[in-house]
Amino acid sequence: MTFDFDAWRAAKLARVEAALDGFIAAQSPADLGLVMRYGVLNGGKRLRALLVLAASEATGGNADAAMRAACAVEMIHAYSLIHDDMPCMDNDVLRRGKPTVHVAYGEAQALLAGDALQALAFEVLTPDEGVMSASVQATLCRQLARASGVGGMAGGQAIDLASVSKTLTEAQLRRMHELKTGALLKASVEMGAACGVLDGTRASHGALGLRAHLAAYGAAVGLAFQVVDDMLDVIADAALLGKTAGKDAAHNKPTYVALMGLDAAETYAEKLLAQALTALDACALPNDAALRELAIRLVKRQS
Ligand code: IPE
Ligand code: IPE
Ligand code: MG
Ligand code: MG
Ligand code: MG
Repeated sequence: MTFDFDAWRAAKLARVEAALDGFIAAQSPADLGLVMRYGVLNGGKRLRALLVLAASEATGGNADAAMRAACAVEMIHAYSLIHDDMPCMDNDVLRRGKPTVHVAYGEAQALLAGDALQALAFEVLTPDEGVMSASVQATLCRQLARASGVGGMAGGQAIDLASVSKTLTEAQLRRMHELKTGALLKASVEMGAACGVLDGTRASHGALGLRAHLAAYGAAVGLAFQVVDDMLDVIADAALLGKTAGKDAAHNKPTYVALMGLDAAETYAEKLLAQALTALDACALPNDAALRELAIRLVKRQS
């Protein structure tokens, strides 16, 4: 039987949206929760959540743990976008087809909503009830912290801002992309697997090989994602993107398109997709159709 990816995605998205809605309370001091909800519950593609859930399913993971991991990653991602759009960073006014958080609620509330979402992500990963073992909780927290901190998203954002108007080498640009965007996407795959066969209590020699192949899949998909984001900034329009187009060139950002041109960037994204699919084949997972389709769609996406 062929795998119906669209049906799979629709079912997962409905559950992710409901879970996020439940985790982020509107009732809050000075309405901060409303600002958080505005920044999260606003039509993101939820690619990171889908990667977590697909990796968990492919490795026979605990669905409740995976849903928490999926929501935690989306909260970190939404926090990174709220801060990325602020005047001190990219100074963007449009996100997911709506005014950015600081435009709608002011800079202080945007800053705090990002901070609070980061904290909430880790709270969601450490529930009281017996959803997941203490060791899985600790693994998920470590993976997410590493991917979002100085050695991941925040560090990559620092390089991004420090590189404005500079010409980076291909290696420097790759490192920036791997950190600012790739790390969280790769972590999404690894966190999904941590809810499954790679849960610490069952790590074995075979699991070590699988871990490496899944990491290679996640790394290739993560880098390809930002290469395509750079391309879309040039070729897509705001109506389709839900965010202002053409701003990388306007802000003199180093991107793959600026470095190698549109055609070569596309070829590079295709090469990364092929690498991701080869790594996935090496995983030899019986239930990998969603991971396969996600990699393909993420590289071929129009927004
Ligand atoms: C946009 O990410 C920001 C980058 C990391 C390049 P997405 O394209 O996944 O944004 P949403 O979540 O769908 O809005
Ligand atoms: C943002 O990269 C990456 C993070 C938010 C970590 P971009 O600045 O290219 O993302 P967009 O294009 O504004 O979504
Ligand atoms: Mg940016
Ligand atoms: Mg930006
Ligand atoms: Mg961009």
